[in-house]
Amino acid sequence: MHKIAVIGLGHVGTTVAHILLMKGLVDELVLIDHNEKKVDAEYLDFSDSFARTESSAVIKRNDYGELADADIIVTAFGDIGATARTGDRFAELPINKKNAAEVGKKIKESGFKGILVNISNPCDVIVNELQKASGMPRNRVFGTGTFLDTARMQRAVGDHFGEAPQNVSGFVLGEHGNSQFSAWSTVTLDGEPVTKFAEEGKIDLDKLDGDIRDSAFKVVAGKGYTSFAIATCAVRIVEAIFNNKHEFMPASVYLEKYACYIGYPAVIGKDGVEKIKPVKLTAEETAKLENSVKTIKEKNEA
Ligand SMILES: NC(=O)c1ccc[n+]([C@@H]2O[C@H](COP(=O)([O-])OP(=O)(O)OC[C@H]3O[C@@H](n4cnc5c(N)ncnc54)[C@H](O)[C@@H]3O)[C@@H](O)[C@H]2O)c1
Repeated sequence: MHKIAVIGLGHVGTTVAHILLMKGLVDELVLIDHNEKKVDAEYLDFSDSFARTESSAVIKRNDYGELADADIIVTAFGDIGATARTGDRFAELPINKKNAAEVGKKIKESGFKGILVNISNPCDVIVNELQKASGMPRNRVFGTGTFLDTARMQRAVGDHFGEAPQNVSGFVLGEHGNSQFSAWSTVTLDGEPVTKFAEEGKIDLDKLDGDIRDSAFKVVAGKGYTSFAIATCAVRIVEAIFNNKHEFMPASVYLEKYACYIGYPAVIGKDGVEKIKPVKLTAEETAKLENSVKTIKEKNEA
C-alpha cells in the first residue's frame, strides 16, 4: 500500500498528484492546501477521471492526521506569482520560510515517519527550513534541487547535437537558482566528454550554461509557471524510493562538508538519501559549488 501526501495544490502539486494517479503509483493520496475550495475542486476533478482510467486511489482532503502512516510527502506550497512577477526565486523566500515553519510543525505533530521531498522555492533553503521544523533525519528530507536543471541540461545538449536527452549524462550542481552551474567535466554525450566537442568548436558550453539557467524563466514568461518537467522529476524520485532503485541522481541533499543542503549527486532508495557520492570536479567547478553554498547559507540565515 502506497500513501502519498501532496502539500500545496497549485500548478506543480496538482500535476504531481495527476501523474501519481495516472501511473498508478499511489493507493491513498492526501491533498493539503490552505485553499479549501481548490482542494475540493481537484478532488472532484480527479475523482471524475477514474471512470476513464485503469488507476484509482482513495483521496483524503486537508487532514494532517493522515500523514501518520504516509510513506512520502511532496511539498509544493508557495506563491508562484511572486517569482513570476520578479523573475527571482528568492521573491518566495519570506513567504515559503513562513510556510515551511507552519507545515514542518504540523508534519512533526502528525507523527509522520516517511520521506519528505521538497519542491517549494527557493528549494535548497526551504528544504533546510522543513528539516528544522519537522525534526526529521536529514537523509529523509531532501529537495528536487538541480534534478530539474540537469534534465534541462540533458535536453539542451541533446537538442544541440540532434540526440535524445537520455544520451546525455552528467550533472548541473549547486543552488536550484541563479548560482547553479553545469559541471561540464561530468557531462558526456554517448559516453564521450562534451568538453572534447567544445575543444573541437562544436559547442559553446558557456552560452549553453546560460541558456539552461534561463530556461525556467522562458517557460514562466509563456505560461506564468512551470509544471510538467518539475512534476516529472518529483515523480521519478518517488519511484526511486518506492522501487528502492538506489538511483544516482542530483538532488538537494545535505552535504556535511559545507553544513548545507545543495544540489549534488546522491543515491536515492527506500530510505531516502542512502549515500552522497563525491564527484570529481575541476578547480573552477569547485569554486562555483562553493559560491552556491555561500548564496544558500546567506539565505538560510536571512
Ligand atoms: N524546485 C523546482 O524545481 C521548482 C519548479 C517549479 C516550481 N517550484 C516551486 O514550487 C512551488 C509551487 O509552484 P506552483 O506553480 O504550484 O505555485 P502556485 O502559486 O500555483 O501554488 C502554490 C499553492 O500552495 C498553497 N499554499 C501556500 N501556502 C500553503 C501552506 N502553508 N499550506 C498549504 N498550502 C499552501 C497555495 O494555496 C497554492 O495553492 C513554488 O514555490 C514554486 O516556485 C519549484
